[in-house]
Formats: sequence, structure tokens, C-alpha cells
Amino acid sequence: MVPFNVDAIDLNTLRLRQSAKYQAFAPDVIPAWVAEMDFPLAEPIADALHEAIDRSDTGYQSGAGLADAVTGFLHRSWSWKVQQSRVFGISDVLSGVNWAIRLLSRPGDGVVVNTPVYPPFFSTIRDIAERQVVDVPLTRSPNGQYALDMAGLEAAFARPEVTAYVLCSPHNPTGTVPTRGELEQIAELAHTHGVAVIADEIHAPLTLPGAVHTPYLTVAPEDATCVSLVSASKAWNLPGLKCAQMIGTDRTATTIRERLPKEVLYSAGHLGVIASVAAYESGGPWLEHVVSVIDTNRSLVAELLAEHVPQASYVPPAASYLAWINLSAYDVGPDPSTTLLDEGRIAVNAGPTFGAGGDGHVRLNMATSPAILTEVVERMGRSLGSARQHGAMGQ
Ligand SMILES: Cc1ncc(COP(=O)(O)O)c(C=O)c1O
Repeated sequence: MVPFNVDAIDLNTLRLRQSAKYQAFAPDVIPAWVAEMDFPLAEPIADALHEAIDRSDTGYQSGAGLADAVTGFLHRSWSWKVQQSRVFGISDVLSGVNWAIRLLSRPGDGVVVNTPVYPPFFSTIRDIAERQVVDVPLTRSPNGQYALDMAGLEAAFARPEVTAYVLCSPHNPTGTVPTRGELEQIAELAHTHGVAVIADEIHAPLTLPGAVHTPYLTVAPEDATCVSLVSASKAWNLPGLKCAQMIGTDRTATTIRERLPKEVLYSAGHLGVIASVAAYESGGPWLEHVVSVIDTNRSLVAELLAEHVPQASYVPPAASYLAWINLSAYDVGPDPSTTLLDEGRIAVNAGPTFGAGGDGHVRLNMATSPAILTEVVERMGRSLGSARQHGAMGQ
């Protein structure tokens, strides 16, 4: 028996949720933006949370069982052996990126990212960590496939001010999964030029059939200056519970232990720790089902776009549930999300916020039922069609 019936997901029930996805827009808008999933919570996680509430167990977190659960999951998933003493519980991946930048570089240094990329990286690097963003955009082949620009990375790493690299693997929003060979090359370049690598691997458990995720720390040497950030929050839809893990090498685990303020290690939520332990230990069957639903949905979106939005270009992601769609063939300006919201009553993420290469694009969340996804893409087609008519009439 499958853990849940995806066709039973219904918008009226989803609208009762108090989370950001369902509260940010008017009730006639279908939310397909922020990376929250519409699926029901995995049963082992729901049970663990209900039991905690029944115990009135809402005090400070102790971290109980977390290092054991996450290291077991990493080993089963990717044969990645991590010593429990190198796992540090924190509140979320984004604050982990911020703290890793602070620990491994100096104010004013250059920190490399690959645009188009998860927008909060920009403000984290510039405004919170007070470093400079150094962009090495992804390359794009004629068929629309994105890839890391290895020559561009080498040139950036050679710049004297560049001391850190935020590697988003798998990549948000393109769903690209770097190959082992690319990661090995990055490890070599980072070593040669003394660049710290901060690997955000939050989407890794959602790697889809046909792709293989390689944890960055499995290719980096033991004494490398790098950390990985992992979490159960994307794969099991727990971001509001606030729990992530920073994993160090021999060298960086010592830095974290000695220099990360102790308060940061107490910032994970207690219910987040409880839910993450349940996810890592018992959430496998649910995750497997979700991966198969997303696999179906990524192909469905290709079919629906071909039918309703024929000038869109879209390469199905190799990982996770975000569809990065190029709508620049439609004459609706650099940010098509405004037309989709105003005319189509669907909320998607605005491409320009993802930095260079984002104009004309939108990011669509596919972690929902095929019926809702169909309605979203139909609305997209109708609104772009009507926007074109308005444009033609105005000319
Ligand atoms: C690549 C990436 N990093 C970090 C985050 C945020 O994670 P957290 O809520 O743990 O900070 C997201 C959320 O979607 C993400 O896509």
C-alpha cells in the first residue's frame, strides 16, 4: 500500500494550513511558489509529533538521537560514513550557510555562487555575512540543460579576494545534479586556491530516477576546508520545525566546535529534532513514494506545457520538485510571475529574484497532485494567451 493517495489531495483542505504557502495570497490564487509540499505528513513523523504533544514535551531540544539518525540515513543513502562527532544540529540550512561563511572566510571576501540560484544566498552573503557575491553563472547548452562552468569556477577561485564557494547540490532552481567528476574537480580547485566549499545539499534526498547525488564531503579530502549542510526539512516537508545539520571534515569540525557560538547549537527546534529523527529513521517508504510522484509530475509538466504553453521551455529537473520555466517567448516582460498572478491567479516564484539568467523565467512548485498541477498549467496558458491578446490590442 502506498503511504498516501496523491489524487485525494484537495485545495480546500490545503487552504486550512497556516503556513506561508497558503497564507500569502488571496483564496482564489493557487499557490505554487515557496518550497513546501502539499503531501500529507509521513505517518511515522506525525506519530512522533503527536506522542511529543501528548507528553507535553515542548521544552528545549537535547539533540537526542539526531546524530545517530542522520549518520544512519547518510550511510544507507549514499554509503557516506560520517562520524557522529562531526554532526552539528542547527536551526536551518540558511543559517548554516551564513555561519559557515563567517567561520571559513573574512568580512569583505568574495563568495562564489552559480546563478540562477536560490535568492536568499545573495542577502545572506551580502547583508548578513557582509561578504561580496562573486557570480559564476551556470552554463546552458542549446537544449536548455544547465551545468557548472568549470573554467569559470577556476578563474573565480584564482581571484585573491575569493575565499569561499556556496555549492548548491542538487541545484535550486534548475534541479541540476553535479557529477562526481565535477565535484572532484571542484575539490581539487578549492585545494589549489585555498577556497572553502560550503555544500548546501538540502534537496539531495529528492534526487530523481536517472540521476545520482554525490555528497561533496565524500570526494573532498579529510583535511579539506569544507562543510555540508543537510536537513530532513525539504524531503519530508518540515521547514517550519527548524532543524538542520552542519557536517564538518576533520579540519572544519574542529573549527565549528571551537568557534561556532554555543547558542547556534541550541537553535534547532525540539519538535524539529523529534520529527527529523523519525524522518531519517522511518521515513524511507514515504520518501520513496514522494520521489515517484515527483518523477511523474515532472513529465506531466512537460506534457502540459507542450499543450497549454507551447512556447515555454523547460528541462525536467534531475532532482527535487521545482520546475524552472522559461517564458521569455511570451511578451510579458522580465517577470512573468506578475502576469500569472494578476491574470491567471497562480503564485509562482519570480525568475529575476534568482539573479543573472532569471529574467523571463518562473519557478513552479510541482509537489502537489496531478489535478492541481494541471489546473496551474492550464491557468498559466490562459493568462499568457490573454496577456498576448492585451498586448496585441495595445499596439
Ligand atoms: C537550496 C536551498 N537551501 C536552503 C533552503 C532553506 O532551507 P532552510 O529552511 O533549512 O533554511 C532552501 C529552501 O527551499 C533551498 O532550496
